[in-house]
Amino acid sequence: MHLHFPFLLSLLSILTLTTSQTIKHISQSELTKLATQADQNITFIPHTVFKQTISDGTWLVFFGARWCKYCKQLSPTWLTIQERVLDAVQGIKMGKVDCTDQEEFCEEEGVDGYPTLHLYNNGKLIEEYDQGHDLKSLYTYVVTKASYYQKLRREDL
Ligand SMILES: *[C@@H]1O[C@H](CO)[C@@H](O)[C@H](O)[C@H]1NC(C)=O
Repeated sequence: MHLHFPFLLSLLSILTLTTSQTIKHISQSELTKLATQADQNITFIPHTVFKQTISDGTWLVFFGARWCKYCKQLSPTWLTIQERVLDAVQGIKMGKVDCTDQEEFCEEEGVDGYPTLHLYNNGKLIEEYDQGHDLKSLYTYVVTKASYYQKLRREDL
């Protein structure tokens, strides 16, 4: 990755300032509203084209269900990273799968709870994300993986 560390740090502070940090302290209906708004701009991957979509490049995939509270908390953070980070760091893509009516499909992908985040590279499942769902943890993960897989691809050329 050709980005300088100070640049990434300043990007992170901008993100922190512009994201609601109080999301845990809001009412259930407010949370649902925020999540629904975020979902409108999140990139969704329909299950019918899932395999085909993730077969190319590095993908972080968010498996969620509409009834799941922790998915609602994650959606605005996820959207912030999708919108503000993916432009700045190339080498990784993000997509969400709605498992609400596709539980069987998601189980076949190894999902046994919501939300589950999987990292895929060229269609192969690399790992399940097991760190915090806060902006900083997810941001650090996305930037680190983007950098790693972009470097790997460059070395392959
Ligand atoms: C979704 O995108 C529209 C159009 O770019 C924008 O006006 C709106 O604020 C966005 N919503 C959220 C929750 O980011």
